[in-house]
Amino acid sequence: MAKLQPQAVKQITEIVERYKDEPTPTMMILEDIQKEYGYIPLEVQELVSELTGVPVSDIYGVVTFYSFFSMVPKGKYVIGVCLGTACYVKGSQLVCDKFGELLGIKPGETTPDGLFTLDLLRCIGACAVAPAVSINGKVYPQVKVDNVKNIIEEYRAKEAN
Ligand code: FES
Repeated sequence: MAKLQPQAVKQITEIVERYKDEPTPTMMILEDIQKEYGYIPLEVQELVSELTGVPVSDIYGVVTFYSFFSMVPKGKYVIGVCLGTACYVKGSQLVCDKFGELLGIKPGETTPDGLFTLDLLRCIGACAVAPAVSINGKVYPQVKVDNVKNIIEEYRAKEAN
């Protein structure tokens, strides 16, 4: 196991402690770690396993199953393209492909400058405005392939300012 800094061990232990009275705390613990640190590498999964008694294989299974979790640091802007049914039938796969093409990454990857991560999402509750894209929680409605370039530029401009 790679060595975690004592400060990181302390912080992860505090998160685990928050849920010590919950019967099945794994998801809640992992959600807090993901939100607070941005990713959950294997050594952190091993520590959570040690502290909770949940087998590390189970924790690994959860982290790799849900796209919300990541084992590597995500970009500053996480672009989630919804591939739920309502969005898919309205062309969200093409929107996803366009993001990938313009950013030079595949779903699940992060641009080398650390700015963008491209994720695939299942229904995000915005079916009425499908196809929907979420960037750091902000929902873009009825996104067309032709809008993708402008959306990326909006975020690049923010960085330039
Ligand atoms: S299917 Fe995309 S928001 Fe519901």
